[in-house]
Amino acid sequence: MRKELEYLESVSRRLDMPADDRIASLQSIIGYGEEFLKEIDDIPVYQESPESLETLQGCDFEDDGKSLDQLLAILRQAVDSTGINPAAAGHLGYVPGGGVFPSALGDYLAAVTNRYAGIYYANPGAVILENLCVQWMAKIIGYPEQHAGNLSSGGSIATLTALTAARDWHEIKPENVRNQVIYLTTQTHHCVLKALRIAALDYSHVRMVEMNTAYQMDPEDLNRKIEIDKRAGLNPFLIVASAGSTDLGIIDPLDEIASIAKREGCWFHIDAAYGGFFVLTDELSGLLSALAKSDSVVLDPHKGLFLSYGTGAVLIKNRAAAIKSHYYRANYMQDAEGDFEVLNPADISPELTKHFRGLRMWLSLQLLGIKPYKAALTEKLLLARYFHSEVQKIGFKVGPDPTLSVCLFRISGNNPESENQQNRALMNAILKTGKIFLSSTTLDGTFWLRICVMVFRTHKRNIDELLKILRDQYETYAKSGKII
Ligand SMILES: Cc1ncc(COP(=O)(O)O)c(C=O)c1O
Repeated sequence: MRKELEYLESVSRRLDMPADDRIASLQSIIGYGEEFLKEIDDIPVYQESPESLETLQGCDFEDDGKSLDQLLAILRQAVDSTGINPAAAGHLGYVPGGGVFPSALGDYLAAVTNRYAGIYYANPGAVILENLCVQWMAKIIGYPEQHAGNLSSGGSIATLTALTAARDWHEIKPENVRNQVIYLTTQTHHCVLKALRIAALDYSHVRMVEMNTAYQMDPEDLNRKIEIDKRAGLNPFLIVASAGSTDLGIIDPLDEIASIAKREGCWFHIDAAYGGFFVLTDELSGLLSALAKSDSVVLDPHKGLFLSYGTGAVLIKNRAAAIKSHYYRANYMQDAEGDFEVLNPADISPELTKHFRGLRMWLSLQLLGIKPYKAALTEKLLLARYFHSEVQKIGFKVGPDPTLSVCLFRISGNNPESENQQNRALMNAILKTGKIFLSSTTLDGTFWLRICVMVFRTHKRNIDELLKILRDQYETYAKSGKII
């Protein structure tokens, strides 16, 4: 057995990289990251190139390891030269963020030290650090001190956490789920519907409340629907509003909806994954002050705080509700129990072992300060308005005035069907330039091109670059009647 142990140790020691190898590897990784960042304005923001995936697919998991240089070459070819580049200034699709550099520094430290931020006993500092991030978010949206909050992998898991708390606080069980009613609009992000399904709340009635011409929830229709449901013996239970819809960046009339929710005893959830951090701007702090009136809010630091992907957040006003759904103990956890005042992240989330994601957020906010965030968020609002006004001058039709940093536009004449085709062609022509990535959406059957200015690296020159592409394309369209 001794011989076997000696042999096993000699092989398993390879898992513990020697200092020289660590430093050499880090230098390669730093070199790779620096090269990526140095070239970020030049590499295409969108590349299809599926053939470059072959080397990755052929890279088997084998008994013996490979060289880091070999692996970095595969990553460069198959990962960092394909698809969308979410870190690039020209990324204007979906709801981006970018990934500020301290986010990577935090992740490096979190991975090397591998601290556990789930339970106070296991690492008081890590738990307090995460809770401080949550408390800061609670403060900026005006939540009381006795809230609960958690850093999740993203907005979708944060939404699931919030809606599960809503379900359990309202004692929704299999025997009464069919009697409950949930109110949202067709502009609600699909992660809400997904969360309802996972939480078995799709057995309840889900009402799509009508919207006004700006695609905001109509409080009168909400009132009307609630009255009808009550008369039918149903129980209005949950209202979901958006503070920054994905399609349009609209903010529902939060104050009015909050009053209705309070009057009816409904749980009021706000999806502020995209819009929430705009509360830091002078322009929108007033409009978003009603976030404080919700029962739960979802924010996405990997959007509005420009962190790398993998950080969402949920805030739940009623701490007891968050705990009721997520607190659990087990025999093997008995050492972790104690008379601690501090809220354990593991007690208010589905996760037990998790990434110490608070470190990337804490480090970014502490190192950079809040001021550049406020400036960047205000800049993004102004850039969307600038684009909205300039693109109309070229001749494009635009969607509603941007509330946040989304702007919709399209070529528009008298033939909607062929125009949809031309707008799709326009989108492909823009993607082909490699300078700009944008996405599209469909509103009431009409195809729209859409930008969302949300990468911290995006500045006026990037918007001007897009405007130049659009000017050239529009000229071609005006001459030939089609995008080539
Ligand atoms: C408004 C809104 N809510 C929720 C989500 C889901 O968040 P995540 O992708 O972080 O899970 C998104 C994602 O883009 C969003 O735009």
